[in-house]
Amino acid sequence: MKVAANIGECVGNTPLVRIDRLAKQWGVKAQILVKIGYMNPGGSYKDRIGLQLIQDAEEAGHLKPGGTIIECTSGNTGMGLALAAVSRGYRCVFVMPDKMSREKIDALRALGAEVIVTPTAVDKDDPRSYYSVAARLNEEIPNSWHSNQYENQSNPRAHYNSTGPEIWRDTEGKITAFVNGMGTGGTLSGVGRYLKEQNPDVKIVGVDPIGSMYFDKFHSDTDVKPKTYLVEGIGEDFYPSTMDMSLVDDILQIDDKTCFTVARKLARREGIFSGGSTGAAVWGALEYAKRNNLGPDDIVVTMACDHGLRYLSKVFNEQWLRENEMLESEYELEARQLLGTKQGSGPRRLVSVPATASAADALSLLKDHDVSQIPVVDADDEPIGSLQEAQLVALFVEHKDLSSVKVKDVMGPPFPVVSGATPLEEVARQLTRENPAVLVEDEGSYGIVTKYDLIAHIAR
Ligand SMILES: Cc1ncc(COP(=O)(O)O)c(C=O)c1O
Repeated sequence: MKVAANIGECVGNTPLVRIDRLAKQWGVKAQILVKIGYMNPGGSYKDRIGLQLIQDAEEAGHLKPGGTIIECTSGNTGMGLALAAVSRGYRCVFVMPDKMSREKIDALRALGAEVIVTPTAVDKDDPRSYYSVAARLNEEIPNSWHSNQYENQSNPRAHYNSTGPEIWRDTEGKITAFVNGMGTGGTLSGVGRYLKEQNPDVKIVGVDPIGSMYFDKFHSDTDVKPKTYLVEGIGEDFYPSTMDMSLVDDILQIDDKTCFTVARKLARREGIFSGGSTGAAVWGALEYAKRNNLGPDDIVVTMACDHGLRYLSKVFNEQWLRENEMLESEYELEARQLLGTKQGSGPRRLVSVPATASAADALSLLKDHDVSQIPVVDADDEPIGSLQEAQLVALFVEHKDLSSVKVKDVMGPPFPVVSGATPLEEVARQLTRENPAVLVEDEGSYGIVTKYDLIAHIAR
């Protein structure tokens, strides 16, 4: 039988997935691969460190039977620790900053952990900070052990022992760059050290949110005053010893809105449902490949850190995004989304008229479907022209017999064709007096977006 002795044995061996559609949209030729960390049992790549931290602490005698594990966590390390702790009989007390998603707090409680929520906007040394509260609890609770993912080298070791080797194995050693956000830096340092030992030319690239200290430290060796930001799990207001900056080749800086927009695109365009730190990592991989002009033989690996279900009240909640001014502007939406939201649109079949039909048939189609323009298609259903109601009215005024006039003899040029991924801004530019509609080619079939659709969408 193929059976795991406990859930801990199911951690690791997560798949690498190509994101060709986003890469194409970004104009990137390199292969961008995402390692799906949320396919670990706790829903994030932190399951790996949960196990490693506990195993190493047991071996070193820091963690004894019946002991209590204390950790400051943005949620995911807590999940990893809690999963490993359940089967070993340890109690868990987690301290979390108040900006973290409600879902994460509830999930930790579901696994039997106690969760203490502390204010985000205070200094690390403030007695209310989540670091200080964890340290105090460690002193107060007997037989407790503070796993301390910010200083405990078991954290990068977990990624050195498993994540790094898996990436090397699955890319057959052909990886060009590894890109990821940095919280504790355990992932970037552990994976980075392993990969550089195999091939010193592999580039290790961090992504840092505006407000965190890593970006300025790396580029100008300055300590900026940290500011709060919304993306969870990445960026720091101090330098954890688990982050080995000597391994890093570059750090890109990102704003909150881009993190969330890319996370949403990744879900809608690639079916990879993950959070804001993954948005940051994937943006970093795409941007690094683009800025360095990487080619088709280059392989850039990044991570889907945790599951999107943890962010239903934030990254995937339009009201929260709007309240925090994080919603993509209309212009960042794509043509295909307009097709999907057309009011009163039934099945998304394009109404068209064959070139061989009569002008009278075309007129009936316009009337039956309550539209003012219609694409003209050839025998293979490919658009070759267009007809507008004004042209038919002109024929009527000229006393032409509409049933004896062929569409192909009176049609105008075809509507412009755009891909489903075209930004609405570009669609709007194409809608002119001469072109009241554009055809949207998506997954091998066509839809139509008219000036009226765009106006109705903006009004909504
Ligand atoms: C959602 C999420 N993404 C990214 C990270 C960063 O990973 P690391 O701490 O290994 O740098 C974390 C860390 O807590 C996280 O919770």
